[in-house]
Order: sequence, then C-alpha cells, then structure tokens
Amino acid sequence: MPMTERDLDGVMAIENASFSDAWSRAGFEDSLEQPYALMLTAKYGENVAGYCCLYQMLDEGEIINVAVAPDCRGLGVGLRMLEHLLALGKDRGIIRFLLDVRVSNAPAIRLYEKAGFAILAQQKNFYQSPVEDGWLMELLVSPKMDTSSETWLAGQ
Ligand SMILES: CC(C)(COP(=O)(O)OP(=O)(O)OC[C@H]1O[C@@H](n2cnc3c(N)ncnc32)[C@H](O)[C@@H]1OP(=O)(O)O)[C@@H](O)C(=O)NCCC(=O)NCCS
Repeated sequence: MPMTERDLDGVMAIENASFSDAWSRAGFEDSLEQPYALMLTAKYGENVAGYCCLYQMLDEGEIINVAVAPDCRGLGVGLRMLEHLLALGKDRGIIRFLLDVRVSNAPAIRLYEKAGFAILAQQKNFYQSPVEDGWLMELLVSPKMDTSSETWLAGQ
C-alpha cells in the first residue's frame, strides 16, 4: 500500500536496522511529497513489515530503496512488494528499471535476479561507509499497450 507519514516510525526502524548509510527521516518526508516518487509499504496490521521506493524519470524508474524488517525476512515479503512496485511503475509507463546494490549483498542480488533484473555494470567504490563497489542492475519491460484508446480501436 502507499507509504504515508504515519508509517515513518516503522520505516525508520527498519531503515536503521538495515543500512550503515541509512536515509534520514527528512529524506523520506521529502520523497513522500514528490510526484515522481512511488513509495510502498508492506504491513501486518498497523506494523510496517517492509517498504520500497522508486523514482520515475519519464519512462525510466530507479529503485531507490527496498528493505524488510529483520524478523520478517525470508517469508516472501520483499519479492511480493518489489513485484507490486514494478507493476505500478509499468502502469505509469516505465519500460526500464535500474537499481544499485552492494556487490556483497547476496540476498538482495538474488531477490533482484528473481524479479528479472540482470547485472549491467560494476561501479567502482560506489558506496561509502564502508566503501564498496556496486552492481548496476537493469530490468527492461515491454511498453504497456493502451487497449482502451480510440487510436487502438481505430487501428483494428
Ligand atoms: C534483501 C531483502 C529486502 C530481501 O527481503 P525478503 O523479504 O527477505 O526476501 P524474500 O523472502 O521475498 O525472498 C525472495 C528471494 O530473494 C532471495 N533471498 C532472500 N533472502 C536471501 C538470503 N538470505 N540469501 C540468499 N537469497 C535470499 C531468494 O532468491 C528468495 O527467493 P527464494 O526464497 O524462493 O529462494 C532483505 O533481506 C533486506 O531487507 N535486507 C536488508 C536491506 C537491503 O539490503 N536491501 C537491499 C538494498 S539494495
């Protein structure tokens, strides 16, 4: 479901437990106001189990953030959430998804490969604290055809 301000306590707890170079709360607050940002949470009751965020630039989408609460990992939450984000992005016209991931982050790399991403390039010293190379990963999808438009009908 869409992330809201009310989710931010839960989101920040997961963010701080997951990343050595965590985003600030202000960073999430700012992104929530941007029309180009697509931000989702997975929840159980009122609790945040995970979240993922994407920035859209025309027909490209950059996955900015994916994280699942430590006690909810390995249950399929990350994959379901990511697939939902990709589907929504595709509905918005995205045909190319990109993301960066630390080369040592095997669980995330496997997750992204499972969602269809492939490694495009290695980025030297891309990350800080600690310094580490990153993989740039890409997923290409076919453009969504608008079967409801008159143009489509006229072409039949
Ligand atoms: C990466 C992360 C989001 C995965 O979330 P998750 O809910 O545990 O993942 P899922 O249960 O949906 O697993 C989906 C697939 O990811 C891969 N995967 C997940 N955890 C894994 C692990 N510990 N080791 C290897 N592969 C793993 C598997 O291919 C898995 O499919 P399978 O269970 O059929 O083998 C989670 O580990 C996390 O929050 N990590 C810390 C934050 C982070 O590193 N985010 C990515 C930043 S780029």
